[in-house]
Amino acid sequence: MDSIRIRGGVALQGNVCIQGSKNAALPILAATLLTGDSSLLKNCPRIADVYAMVSLLKSLGCTVNWQENGIEVDSSRVRRGKMQSEAVKGMRSSLCLLGALLGRCSEVAMEHPGGCCIGARPIDLHIYALEQMGVDFWCEDGMLRATADRLHGAGIVLPKPSVGATENVILAGVCAEGDTILEGAAREPEITALCGYLKCCGAWIEGAGTERIVIRGGRSLYGTEFTIPADRIVAGTYLLACMGTGGSIFLERAPREEMGAVLEVAERMGGHFCSSDEGIYVQGPVRPRAVSRIETAPYPGFPTDLQSMALAVETLGEGESLIEETIFENRFRVVEEFRRMGACIEQVGERSVLVRGVSSLRGADVDAKELRGGAALVIGGLMAQGKTNVTGCPFIYRGYENICRDFRELGARIISV
Ligand code: UD1
Repeated sequence: MDSIRIRGGVALQGNVCIQGSKNAALPILAATLLTGDSSLLKNCPRIADVYAMVSLLKSLGCTVNWQENGIEVDSSRVRRGKMQSEAVKGMRSSLCLLGALLGRCSEVAMEHPGGCCIGARPIDLHIYALEQMGVDFWCEDGMLRATADRLHGAGIVLPKPSVGATENVILAGVCAEGDTILEGAAREPEITALCGYLKCCGAWIEGAGTERIVIRGGRSLYGTEFTIPADRIVAGTYLLACMGTGGSIFLERAPREEMGAVLEVAERMGGHFCSSDEGIYVQGPVRPRAVSRIETAPYPGFPTDLQSMALAVETLGEGESLIEETIFENRFRVVEEFRRMGACIEQVGERSVLVRGVSSLRGADVDAKELRGGAALVIGGLMAQGKTNVTGCPFIYRGYENICRDFRELGARIISV
């Protein structure tokens, strides 16, 4: 299933149910390590990154069982040890095992975590923050090693709102002695979800979703049942696909309150929306308007994970759109692929591109080089006239349960081969 074939030019119509959130599920799966008990995570997405995390948890001694409505993780018999190198190298979020394992076993040995090649993705903030809590780091035989004889609370100020570093401080903080006060924390909803799970397990955390999070450590934690929230990035992907192709769709379970910045941009593209507790009804424009400037920013700003999809829509925008990427420097690897489809895109700086909308895209052979860029190419294929073949699709399956099925439900002509 390396490729996705699309015959484009169909306006999307119908209903699609939004899967559970990848970026919430991964740190919550890591957090199950802290309970030494069994947790049921409902609505956990069945995606490659979750399978990789599950395999890491198993390699650490957890018992994991998929059930019809979720996944059960029992971490009562966790053993210290080295994590599977391949899974760590391939997945950036294996990094949140750092905080979780320090909390559970006081030591970690892992390869440098991988993930999508969308930028340098340093880990200095994780190390800086955890060092304040009594963790010693060193490198040995190419491995990152960390121990904490006594994990303790601390006052930590993050100079940049890193999602992963915030999660690691929370994971270590709930097990540390004393209080941790984290300033400059990331505010992404997935952090609120992680704190929601930990609070259900008995942890004391205040301020999730704000820049200042206070964690009272040392409480004993127990297993729980928790529902992974819907994925705002998947919902945003399908919403932007509707902006690019026209038509009208209903995004069942889409988390409206987390999608303000995306809906604002989509509205400026000419979209119309109506939301309820059940989801968001989306009406796409006949032809999208160019939004003069789209700039990514930490939450609640426009998400970097949806930048490539917005770029896809703007290839057909009426006018010019400047797209600025402020979080990850390598997000423009899709540009070359869109040019193959006839898009007019000029790189105007290391982190900006100017998109001059054309009246139509033509189908082409394109290659996905990372997860979100890959999903954007699928949208490009849906918008284009004729046949598109997207290769490199294993990247896409890291984050989308079944993107072809979902788009087929919306009337698209798309198959994975
Ligand atoms: C998470 C998300 C990813 C999303 C990103 C930004 C998960 C599994 N992944 O990634 O989908 O695109 O947030 O919303 O939740 N940085 C440093 N030093 C560090 C850590 C980060 O300089 O130690 C920089 C990064 O290079 C980047 C910025 O901080 O420029 C934000 O990165 P961060 O929020 O940490 O992203 P991730 O947690 O890796």
